[in-house]
Amino acid sequence: ALLGGAGGYALAERDRANEPGFDPETTPALNDAADGPGFGGEALSCHGDHQAGITTVPATHVRHIAYTLRAETDRGAIARMFRILTGDIEALTAGVAPLADPEPELAERPSRLTITVGVGPGLVDRVDPKKRPKWLAPLPAFTLDQLGGGFDGGDLLLTLQADDPLPVAHAARMLHRDLDRFGELAWVQQGFRQARGAEAQGATMRNLMGQVDGTVNPKPAEPDFDPLIWVDKADGQPWLAGGSAFVLRRIRMELDTWDRVDRPGREQTIGRTLSDGAALSDPKGGEHKPADFDAKNALGLSVISSAAHIRRATSSDPNERIVRRAVNYDTGEEAGLLFGCFQRNPLTQFVPIQQRLDEADLLNEWVTHTGSAVFAILPGFRSGETLGAGLTA
Ligand code: HEM
Repeated sequence: ALLGGAGGYALAERDRANEPGFDPETTPALNDAADGPGFGGEALSCHGDHQAGITTVPATHVRHIAYTLRAETDRGAIARMFRILTGDIEALTAGVAPLADPEPELAERPSRLTITVGVGPGLVDRVDPKKRPKWLAPLPAFTLDQLGGGFDGGDLLLTLQADDPLPVAHAARMLHRDLDRFGELAWVQQGFRQARGAEAQGATMRNLMGQVDGTVNPKPAEPDFDPLIWVDKADGQPWLAGGSAFVLRRIRMELDTWDRVDRPGREQTIGRTLSDGAALSDPKGGEHKPADFDAKNALGLSVISSAAHIRRATSSDPNERIVRRAVNYDTGEEAGLLFGCFQRNPLTQFVPIQQRLDEADLLNEWVTHTGSAVFAILPGFRSGETLGAGLTA
């Protein structure tokens, strides 16, 4: 019971602090006994049909890094770059220092580090414009977008995720050392979710508006998951089969004005309770009871408003779904969501959803999209294979 439940740990610490003889300098912290070697040594394989970091368990720390290719980085250089990246990824995610790592100790505790690589329209065009899927392009403009703040587009994406910020920082530096000659840093976006161990395993994350965020999201175990997310040979670009399309939107939250809205108002904006994320059609039904969009109150009005976020975001077309993998960001001056989502084709999945949100989502009063990028996430690779080999072949 000491560590269980919301706030249990903090309460236990506070109780102890009131005990006679408690000395914060000399009394060991409550979790010292459990500290042991911790989870730092855990490594996730980077090999498989699909890259790691897409359906693997969401990590605490996420860094999206985009590069712009240098003018001289041609198809041959891109192939070389992929070979170097492959070796770096294999080493770093396994907790092994890559070649000529001046600080090999920093690689030893990967904490489930994953490094996921995506390519932007510019990179594919440099290899062969005929290999670019139609959806690999800037998204159509939405009315409320305020892009242009330096977080748009990019030729190459690296998404680094781990449960500890140290391996993320070290991997980013090692990768940059090798990528520098091929490209220039375009932007970096750093995000987070609750730290591993702070919540029960598998708990849905909370965003900075306080909402339980990620409840209704396709899961890998579901039979219709694969065709929603993985590009198929039949889609016309065989080099991308087993890959995916990734949309990243930087969405700023106006938390000061949001905080002035009363609790019922904040719950109606989404259509779910703040306490546990239950749909307002049955606020006591728990997080996972499906929303009943037809439910009416005593006055005959819809319980879930016609402009509530979940009503606008849901679709009657089962193919029009995305796999959301968002994280919070907080620069100290600005906060929001790094809204990342995977799908097979953004033009038929992300775009129609976002069009409905852009048109009339109660949430729009407090959120603004300030960055937008689309990447083709390369198919997975096996030991002895090279990431992206199908593209440059
Ligand atoms: C659901 C928050 C942006 C798509 C939800 C839920 C919350 C939420 C709290 C309900 C719980 C859940 O099922 O996850 C936010 C916030 C956003 C944001 C704070 C911006 C800062 C977006 C965007 C899209 C999107 C840009 C896609 C274009 C969805 C979908 C659902 C959802 C598909 C599930 C709807 C259903 O019940 O079928 N969001 N969201 N959200 N959101 Fe968002």
